Amino acid sequence: MSDSKDPIGIRKYDFVEFYVGSAKMVAYWYAKVFGMEITAYLGPETGVRDTVSYYLTKNDLKFVVTSPAQPGNFDVWGFIQKHGDGVKRWAIEVDDVSAAFNYATSRGAVMVRRPEKLEDTHGYVEEAAIRLYDDTELVYVNRDHYDYLFKPKYCVPVQQLNLEAKDTGVVGIDHIVGNVRENEMSLWADYFNSCMGFETFVDFKAGDIGTKFSALLSKVVRSADSVIRNPINEPYRGAKKSQIEEYIEQYYGSGVQHIAIQTEDIVKTIAALRENGMEFLNIPDTYYDMLRGREDLNIEESIDDLQKHRILCDKESKGYLLQLFTKPIGDRPTFFFEIIQRHGGSEGFGKGNFQALFESIELDQKLRGNLERKPEDVMPPC
Ligand code: FE2
Repeated sequence: MSDSKDPIGIRKYDFVEFYVGSAKMVAYWYAKVFGMEITAYLGPETGVRDTVSYYLTKNDLKFVVTSPAQPGNFDVWGFIQKHGDGVKRWAIEVDDVSAAFNYATSRGAVMVRRPEKLEDTHGYVEEAAIRLYDDTELVYVNRDHYDYLFKPKYCVPVQQLNLEAKDTGVVGIDHIVGNVRENEMSLWADYFNSCMGFETFVDFKAGDIGTKFSALLSKVVRSADSVIRNPINEPYRGAKKSQIEEYIEQYYGSGVQHIAIQTEDIVKTIAALRENGMEFLNIPDTYYDMLRGREDLNIEESIDDLQKHRILCDKESKGYLLQLFTKPIGDRPTFFFEIIQRHGGSEGFGKGNFQALFESIELDQKLRGNLERKPEDVMPPC
């Protein structure tokens, strides 16, 4: 059983499901770039006519990529037509799905799926879901009574894939971040806190995060034992368009901005991901000159290695973290990944790196023609 301070029996992050244009090609990408294994498959060969899904795993990292296989599948088509490829749902494993769902909905959570048992000859998986942001879902899952690949209807992949990739050593999920519109951040932070027993433990106000051009506000909510950490960003008016405004415009609404993935050796992980074809944000050499000048920075890794792989470092009152951000992985400048390694009880999100990071993102926004705010710009329809 999980920590008794937690009212809904949260154990850990479980799977994240992406809705994408072509599940087979995206599954290849995750297998080749992250070195994930295609563990299970759902589609016409397994008795499902209108959807294709691939379940990919690596240590505790569990991704599902899903595409529509028939024109009538509005759930998936509607999502990708509006948002592009993106996170449809993310799941947390809980002791008791019904108890977690009832706790949330009795405190105002919006129901998406009531608790149900998904059964086959291998046992059953219990799931329920509540609404998050515009079109995202938070799933409660328990698979204590299931001993096969993932969940019913998923089988051993029928495809004969022979994929090789450099081992990236990715371990699991550290945190998942949402981007919401102006004035929505506190609404969603309160939703997590009241419906799931979370607490706000970081609150970045106006002036805390930004460059001379763009800015954002952010609150971080976490579960009682801190295994689930969920930052929520909203745009803050600056001279130019912020990355959050760009996301809201291009995603056509609020949703998941990035997933931070843990590693125990970030130098090895970033080197392998680069070799496998991942594209990262550019960090200037001046950043590493600044790191070398910091006398309080006592870290295990060599700054030469960090510079070689363009890894960012942030010292906290307790420990330090190393991190780097990918470029957006799809066609729209919306969803991306973060790779993170924590040392000595670090709990932050790289506040000391925000300046370097945002300046790098602003250069990419400028290339896309999304940095200057035009007089006719309004927040997008939703
Ligand atoms: Fe992050």
